[in-house]
Amino acid sequence: MILIAGGAGYIGSHANKLLTERGYETVVLDNLVYGHRESVRWGQFAEADLSDIDQIRAVFRKYPIEAVMHFSAYAYVGESVTDPEKYYYNNVANTLNLLKVMREFKVGYFVFSSTCATYGVPQQTLLTESHPQVPINPYGETKLMVERILRDYSVAYGLNYVALRYFNAAGADVDAEIGEWHQPETHLIPLVLDAALGRREAIDIYGTDYPTPDGTCVRDYIHVTDLSDAHILALEYLKKGGASTAFNLGNGTGFSVRQVIETVEQVTAKKIAVREVPRRPGDPPVLVGSNALARETLGWEPRLHELPVIIETAWKWHQKLHK
Ligand SMILES: NC(=O)c1ccc[n+]([C@@H]2O[C@H](COP(=O)([O-])OP(=O)(O)OC[C@H]3O[C@@H](n4cnc5c(N)ncnc54)[C@H](O)[C@@H]3O)[C@@H](O)[C@H]2O)c1
Repeated sequence: MILIAGGAGYIGSHANKLLTERGYETVVLDNLVYGHRESVRWGQFAEADLSDIDQIRAVFRKYPIEAVMHFSAYAYVGESVTDPEKYYYNNVANTLNLLKVMREFKVGYFVFSSTCATYGVPQQTLLTESHPQVPINPYGETKLMVERILRDYSVAYGLNYVALRYFNAAGADVDAEIGEWHQPETHLIPLVLDAALGRREAIDIYGTDYPTPDGTCVRDYIHVTDLSDAHILALEYLKKGGASTAFNLGNGTGFSVRQVIETVEQVTAKKIAVREVPRRPGDPPVLVGSNALARETLGWEPRLHELPVIIETAWKWHQKLHK
């Protein structure tokens, strides 16, 4: 059975669906601080908080867990700057609790949600895994710390892990059974979809004078079901004896803020009002990841990689969510 920590959240709930479709038994552990009980539609559910080690132990006692996928974290970059304690506790200390219980129960496989935010300011346009990891905010620091912990635990205790450095997760389940449901929402695509639904007046474009083809920032959007697929491939890679390591999970192609807005206009047939505002500090012009290593090593192939497809799936879900 696979334990999905944070499986009531956006990405974890999609991993839960795909794991179930591929024949795995799952149990979701989530305290529902940001997750939704309705998103746990497959497998077992254990409402538990990773800050309470006895609650984690109870879950491991109850279910025959053989591997852990760890999605649980706080992920608001701005808040991590104003309240770092909250982030170091939940993202680092509570991960230590989970790893401790895994050791107690001799569970040796771990797939971790890391992030491109561990790289900091890009020194090249296509980021590879060997790019220096110099985070520029506490959120990125917490994820890098966990990567370091995993490396040391693997050497000392034989933990087998894969750290997956996601770029921007996007899109929703093709059947619209689950989707992106953050409160508050800070991600571009759902915000633009909110504007399409009339739930938001306009979209702010932070900077239109970047050295990019249309002057707006370029980011790498990767479909959440492709991300889920990579998690399963990573787990299977570890079970076949693959060495502990980290992979980028990105589209390999960037899309600009304007391209996202225009594609939303095409998909939804609605006009989106925009406001051009100054650049935000800390936003690099281009952030795109090379996915070559994950392709070669895991045999991963992003399938829902086209921007209109990503946005169509997100739109179908978004309309259902706000009906
Ligand atoms: N969304 C992205 O674009 C993106 C990009 C890079 C990395 N990530 C990482 O991927 C992971 C999943 O992201 P998401 O967008 O699905 O976030 P999410 O907030 O939707 O999901 C996280 C889940 O963890 C749960 N959780 C948080 N603290 C907990 C605790 N102490 N005990 C038990 N459950 C707890 C929340 O209730 C939530 O269901 C996070 O670790 C995030 O940092 C996300």
